[in-house]
Amino acid sequence: MTDYAKKRLVLGVTGGVAAYKAAELTRLLVKNDIDVQVVMTEAARHFVAPATFQALSGRPVLSDLWDGQGGNGMAHIEATRGADAVLIAPASADFLAKLAHGAADDLLSALCLARACPMLVAPAMNREMWDYPATQRNVTQLKRDGVTILGPASGPQACGETGMGRMVEPETLVEDVESFWHPKLLQGQRVLVTAGPTFEAIDAVRGITNLSSGRMGYAVARAAIEAGAEVTLISGPTCLTPPAAAKTLSVTSAQEMLEAVNNEIPGCDIFISVAAVADYYVLNPSEQKIKKDAHIFTLELAPNPDIVANVMNLPNPPFCVGFAAESENLYEFAETKRRRKNLPLLAANLVQDAIGHEDNELILFDDDGAHPLPRAPKIVLARQLIERVAKLYQKGKG
Ligand code: C5P
Repeated sequence: MTDYAKKRLVLGVTGGVAAYKAAELTRLLVKNDIDVQVVMTEAARHFVAPATFQALSGRPVLSDLWDGQGGNGMAHIEATRGADAVLIAPASADFLAKLAHGAADDLLSALCLARACPMLVAPAMNREMWDYPATQRNVTQLKRDGVTILGPASGPQACGETGMGRMVEPETLVEDVESFWHPKLLQGQRVLVTAGPTFEAIDAVRGITNLSSGRMGYAVARAAIEAGAEVTLISGPTCLTPPAAAKTLSVTSAQEMLEAVNNEIPGCDIFISVAAVADYYVLNPSEQKIKKDAHIFTLELAPNPDIVANVMNLPNPPFCVGFAAESENLYEFAETKRRRKNLPLLAANLVQDAIGHEDNELILFDDDGAHPLPRAPKIVLARQLIERVAKLYQKGKG
């Protein structure tokens, strides 16, 4: 499987109020294991001090074309060598104009010309500046030149007006950059992912649930988006922010999750059932909060429907992937579960490795046997899983 080496990004920050969001963007990029070199224009330094970016990226910020201190004194050439992309965020109207015309009168514009890697640009400006014909011409020219334009978004602006021109939010930009880099193994496929725990009500305030955080399912949704899929995420209760590009539906109980899956499954190519669905629900939950007394309290439980089994039993089921969390005998229990559920692919992990952790270890089981994936962040494992899904899905179709 692909070895996801650490990516290198040159982040260009230009002069606009959204420069303050570039600080958060830097933090998130670094958190996503991306090596970030920040380059600021003179105008950007009026909005945020370079020390902020230096602290967040762990590297001195580059700004001056004439500061010959580092390397061979040609930072405009050196900065992008070995980089996987240049991202300009925020990109002011002025900087778009410079890029469109090939101006190179400061370090950032010069390195954009001298780069040997792709460029992504996230414009941010007042709505009238965005609509101005010259700006629109510049954007059209940049697209023709092979530059990827991210946004802008619409909404309230720092100037007090509302409209098109807000910089795309940092979380979304990180997703966009990651998607840009990943092979489009599932381009055009519709993927449905379930994630998180379910919550089975006992009364108005209590319920039965489990320790699933939803992280693995959200990572799988994100990896499928990166691979070019159109993703619907059906999530039980979690504290996570779903990927911006996913259609996300929130549910509480297993019954609600089943209904949401049944509604979304028609036209779906791949179903990845990551959710830790509660095995039982409470018969006759109380609408009011149950008062305590001194007696033994008995709950009557009934088994929940098996969602993935329901999907597998459809006349034309999509390619289905299951998950198994076990506390012992992982290989034996997981493969038995895969065969019992008749799943072409099942990802298994030990609960003690997975629950509540940012990293995990997964073993993929399919007709070719077991494929262990070494300990890694959940997003890295999710990408490897999606690679395997794409391979088996294409094989099944071919
Ligand atoms: O049988 P077990 O719960 O261990 O199986 C786990 C797999 O089955 C997961 O993919 C999970 O999402 C799915 N599942 C389900 N509906 C249930 C229970 C589990 O879809 N009621």
